[in-house]
Amino acid sequence: MAFTPRGGGSSGFRGGSSGGGSFRGRGGSRGRGRGNVISKFGSRGASSGGRGGRGGGPKRGGMKGGSKVVIEPHRHAGVFVARGKEDALCTRNMVTGESVYGEKRVSVEVENPNDPLVKEKIEYRIWNPFRSKLAAAILGGVDNIHIKPGCKVLYLGAASGTTVSHVSDIIGADGIVYAVEFSQRSGRDLLNLAKRRTNIVPIIEDARYPARYRMLVGMVDVIFADVAQPDQARIVAINAHQFLKTGGHFVISIKANCVDSTVEPALVFAREVEKLKQENLRPIEQITLEPYERDHAVIVGVYRPTKKKSKVSNYEKESST
Ligand SMILES: C[S@@+](CC[C@H](N)C(=O)[O-])C[C@H]1O[C@@H](n2cnc3c(N)ncnc32)[C@H](O)[C@@H]1O
Repeated sequence: MAFTPRGGGSSGFRGGSSGGGSFRGRGGSRGRGRGNVISKFGSRGASSGGRGGRGGGPKRGGMKGGSKVVIEPHRHAGVFVARGKEDALCTRNMVTGESVYGEKRVSVEVENPNDPLVKEKIEYRIWNPFRSKLAAAILGGVDNIHIKPGCKVLYLGAASGTTVSHVSDIIGADGIVYAVEFSQRSGRDLLNLAKRRTNIVPIIEDARYPARYRMLVGMVDVIFADVAQPDQARIVAINAHQFLKTGGHFVISIKANCVDSTVEPALVFAREVEKLKQENLRPIEQITLEPYERDHAVIVGVYRPTKKKSKVSNYEKESST
């Protein structure tokens, strides 16, 4: 499969919404035809949420409280679309009744499959693409996030757990997300989050030294990285060599000016792609995150370590220290 960057520079958002309004994007939900459920939402609990962008600007995204909402499965397993006055991405809340970062929740009633007379409540959390690059990539039309129910994920750069919480919802009780974050302050929030969500293993460590947490982490299906560091490709590579299954996937968010602010974003992304290839991390897809983030790209690819290792890569040597 050929690797084709999409929207290499600061423009080129493909198929998303026309602006910063509702969260629509390409591939919202492609008819999986499961029974739709209709509900009211938005006025309960931590409803300060539904915030759009950071910094208190105009409200972008979120849904209006009290509107009628239909939940539909998105084409990415474990992700849903709440269709109301404005459409919004959401995930099924693993911890009913609780928001994580002030996001709105939508509650729907469905029939119990064993007893049609009994109604069950299912809750979803609105997933804000201005707060999460993974959500922005989904709305940008990324073909595959590889994070799905039951999946094992190594998440590098977890911060307080905003996106990690949605990954936790997606993978569900059968999955596990190892969330690595080196800031003690963010780490405290992450530890609290993991108390409520048993599929999160919080690791307060520097992702540059995977040997320090090798006792905690098993082999994973996917590495997601959002460390916003100049040596991000290297960080992903040393973690992949240690923990990523052969044929496993990586999803990396790259903030161009964190890597090199002196050249065009498109050139930064192209150089990162080359670095990844040298480490057997083969990019498959690249998209930019406009209109949600400027000069960011998400690169998705597959890991194929060489069968015979004639020599250990420099990254592998370093990571064992
Ligand atoms: C852009 S933020 C991540 C936001 C997060 N992914 C989310 O969506 O909620 C980058 C995070 O990576 C963390 N980070 C940067 N370098 C790191 C490293 N070497 N090891 C672990 N965490 C790191 C930072 O402390 C910061 O919290």
